[in-house]
Amino acid sequence: MSHIPLRVPLRDTPHVYGAVTRILHWLMAALILWQFLGMGLRAIYGRQDWLAPFVGSHAPVGAALFVLVILRILWALANRRTRPAHGDGWQGRAAAAGHGLLYLLMLAIPSLGLLRAWGSERGLTLFGAQIFAPKSPPVEWTAALAGALHGELAWLLLAVVAGHVAMVGVHQAMWRDGTLKRMAGRR
Ligand code: HEM
Repeated sequence: MSHIPLRVPLRDTPHVYGAVTRILHWLMAALILWQFLGMGLRAIYGRQDWLAPFVGSHAPVGAALFVLVILRILWALANRRTRPAHGDGWQGRAAAAGHGLLYLLMLAIPSLGLLRAWGSERGLTLFGAQIFAPKSPPVEWTAALAGALHGELAWLLLAVVAGHVAMVGVHQAMWRDGTLKRMAGRR
């Protein structure tokens, strides 16, 4: 059997993010984009039948994102000494703060959605399995908390994601320091 060189290591190194981090990053990026596409269309067009695939998949996709972000945080902690550094000075500190905010929002938003589902009179059934039984009467504070924060924090996340993408563009076009290659390049 011929030897196929593994171009991307499994774990993170000081030069590149490894395969596990990349899969988590791009899979979550795609699923988060799906959530925003659906909710964005719903915000523009209101409740429409043709939006059913988006609305119907919102809770299962959100629950999957909750599991993925937990795995991602654990993996980041396990790789914290070996992954690419943010760099020194204000730029490094700003990047670290931006990434910290992304993690915080990616954890808080699905947690709030799940908390509301836990307290609701409908409960939560995913892929045919009951995750939360219906509550009677429904828990008021979970609905109030998620009602106040879930959508607002989600739109904030969209703005932070836009900033994140814009900064990758600045790194590529102005500073030309190969930042994108760490998450998308070969090595
Ligand atoms: C990272 C994951 C998630 C993202 C990015 C996200 C994003 C959003 C956005 C942008 C809205 C629209 C808010 C508005 O209309 O102003 C929304 C609404 C909603 N989401 Fe999520 N969501 C996520 C996870 C979840 C989960 C896990 C659940 C439930 C299990 C959930 C349940 C809901 C419900 C019921 C609404 C409609 C009520 C409301 O606007 O607060 N979401 N979500």
